[in-house]
Amino acid sequence: MLRFTLLKDYYTVSKSALILLFSAAFLIPTDRIFSQDQSTQKGTLKDLTLFDIKIDHIISEMSFEEKITMLHGNGLFSSSGITRLGIPEMKYSDGPFGIREEMEKNSWNSMKLTTDSATFFPTGSALAATWNTDLAYLLGTALGEEAKTRGKDILLGPAVNITRIPTGGRTFEYLSEDPLLNARLAVGYIKGVQDRGVAACVKHFALNNQETNRGRINVIVDERTMREIYLPAFEAAVKEANVFAVMAAYNKIGGSWCSENEYLLNQILKKEWGFKGLVVSDWGGTHSSVKAAIGGLDVEMGTSKAAFLGQSLLDSVKAGIVPIEVINDKVKRILRVRFSVEPVSESQPGGIVSTPEHGEIAYQIASQSIVLLKNMDHLLPVDLNKVRSIAVIGDNATHKLALGGFGAGVKTRYEITPLEGLKNKTGDKASIKYAQGYKPSFSQNRQSGGRRMPNNQIDSTLLKEAVELAKNSDIAIIFAGTNREFETESSDRSDLKLPFGQDALIHAVAAANPKTIVVLVAAAPLDLNNAQNASSAMLMSWFNGSEGGNALADVLLGNVNPSGKLPFTFPVALNDSPAFSLGTFPGDNNADYKEGSLVGYRWFDTKKIKPLFSFGFGLSYTDFSYKGAKTDKLKYNSDENIQISVVLKNTGKRKGDEVVQLYVRRLNSKVEWPDKELKGFSRVSLNPGESKKITMTLPISQLRYWDAKIHDWRLENGTIQLMIGSSSSDIRVVKSIDI
Ligand code: BGC
Repeated sequence: MLRFTLLKDYYTVSKSALILLFSAAFLIPTDRIFSQDQSTQKGTLKDLTLFDIKIDHIISEMSFEEKITMLHGNGLFSSSGITRLGIPEMKYSDGPFGIREEMEKNSWNSMKLTTDSATFFPTGSALAATWNTDLAYLLGTALGEEAKTRGKDILLGPAVNITRIPTGGRTFEYLSEDPLLNARLAVGYIKGVQDRGVAACVKHFALNNQETNRGRINVIVDERTMREIYLPAFEAAVKEANVFAVMAAYNKIGGSWCSENEYLLNQILKKEWGFKGLVVSDWGGTHSSVKAAIGGLDVEMGTSKAAFLGQSLLDSVKAGIVPIEVINDKVKRILRVRFSVEPVSESQPGGIVSTPEHGEIAYQIASQSIVLLKNMDHLLPVDLNKVRSIAVIGDNATHKLALGGFGAGVKTRYEITPLEGLKNKTGDKASIKYAQGYKPSFSQNRQSGGRRMPNNQIDSTLLKEAVELAKNSDIAIIFAGTNREFETESSDRSDLKLPFGQDALIHAVAAANPKTIVVLVAAAPLDLNNAQNASSAMLMSWFNGSEGGNALADVLLGNVNPSGKLPFTFPVALNDSPAFSLGTFPGDNNADYKEGSLVGYRWFDTKKIKPLFSFGFGLSYTDFSYKGAKTDKLKYNSDENIQISVVLKNTGKRKGDEVVQLYVRRLNSKVEWPDKELKGFSRVSLNPGESKKITMTLPISQLRYWDAKIHDWRLENGTIQLMIGSSSSDIRVVKSIDI
């Protein structure tokens, strides 16, 4: 038997030495530990079960008490190891867009350190607007490196819940309204994090699609919708990216809390998908001992002393109510993760935090995420040969976004605001003057559910100042939108309106200067009816990280051609969107997902409701033509892949990126389908006049639906239209094939 001291050694030797050590001990070929992935992303630590024999030995030597101590937090962001066996505690950190500042072990109070800064990366909806899976991977690697440097084992991200309602408070952290886009980005992100020796924790499993009543809401959803819309990103995280940890959501599904949901955790996640890692509760989201333990929860987090997976669970084990095998399985899962992440040795030099390389990744995401919504008379990009004075208006020109609101934030070493970015990039070529325009203030009273209500009365002095400045400048740029206090975890927005009286500001400034550009700094859909009517050009930027201001300035000035595409629909009116139209939001105890799979553009297209801006939409400073769509065959069998190609040409005068999108529509189907569904996408870079043949692969298996009758995926034969275009509502070429 291997001595336990070996475990201690494990944490002081390098990873390659460790691999050789264990390979030799168990005669495992080293190439099984790290294997090369087929996709564009690099090698990923694949086999969580590699150390199972050894782990079984360790478990057989552990007491009941020792096992139970591993199943809950010993602080708000750590869970116990076993000192006797040299197993270190597990350290967790938020979150999706940067490593959170250090808090006291048992409270949410900041430790007020000067050594816990990190890069503030663009948040989820910004990443999704890039439609760039390679950037998702790079983001993951950077987050992994920073987490490692800060001594973390598990990074609490990515957050992949579907944007079901446009007012969702966490839309900024989540990705998109489409399961495929979410899945592809999640896979890249997770591989990146885990390639750097840190476990990713995909969250919140599952159907946590609203903040209102999230701690008590019971989601009612049909299984087909759940499988086709809400689970694919999690399924891909497990099956393709081999994610090490999954966080159970706060809500209930079908009457059972997600943290004790036998069907979700044991049947689907662990059995069907073969998940070998650990399931952790959301913070404070555990509700029972026996039910949670048997239902599939492995670690209870969010309370510094165990409320459920501690003494009361130990008593239940001793009383024979919970079989010891159930506990052993949990410890095994925790140890698998423990062994598969690379612990930071005391002697290891820190320092891979906020590096220029990470700043560059943040910049790349930000610059590829910005969406050009409108560009009348080619007002953008700003031509510094002609424009001598720029009025910069709006609180968001100077508002920082790394912190604020409830939940995860980043103590960033720096954050370039839009005004700083513009000044950096403009130099002395134009004079830039600033007026705040509006104050982002809130009323003292909170609405039910804790929601803060914005003061929507515009300050007349600020308004006058802004109008004067706009009048006396060649162009005006209004930096409008929301901020982190307004879009926040734990409450949803009450409507889509621009807060703080900004519509009045936009109207007045645009009346004073017809060359008014509106930049929305926000991370979710907004009511832009007024802004669109009033302004000549509009850009959607996001909560775009440490380099956000530089990226935005580069897009405004034409150093970068905008190429972001909306990751969700912007409705004309809130009531056009499914849950509001059907009156099922927020629900008191139940959220009934009556719209079924008609979420986002699936709803708008099927119901023929014209949105303000469609899913996948985004203009460019150049134009692209789509021609000559071809498939490799006309008829396919169930095990084949469709190869579809199209020739994309940059017909304009500037270099630019286009995100080519592939949607499918079923013709004469006996099964109900949305009007169209995204099934592939590809980001392509083209010089002026350049053409490229773009080929996309669509496995026929991706066209199956969940058949509730047979409780399995099923393929329907028939004719499928393959539609390629520049957004969900701008289809340029169509090909039909048969299955
Ligand atoms: C959030 C999680 C987060 C956890 C720890 C919870 O309120 O829902 O996403 O990881 O807190 O901060």
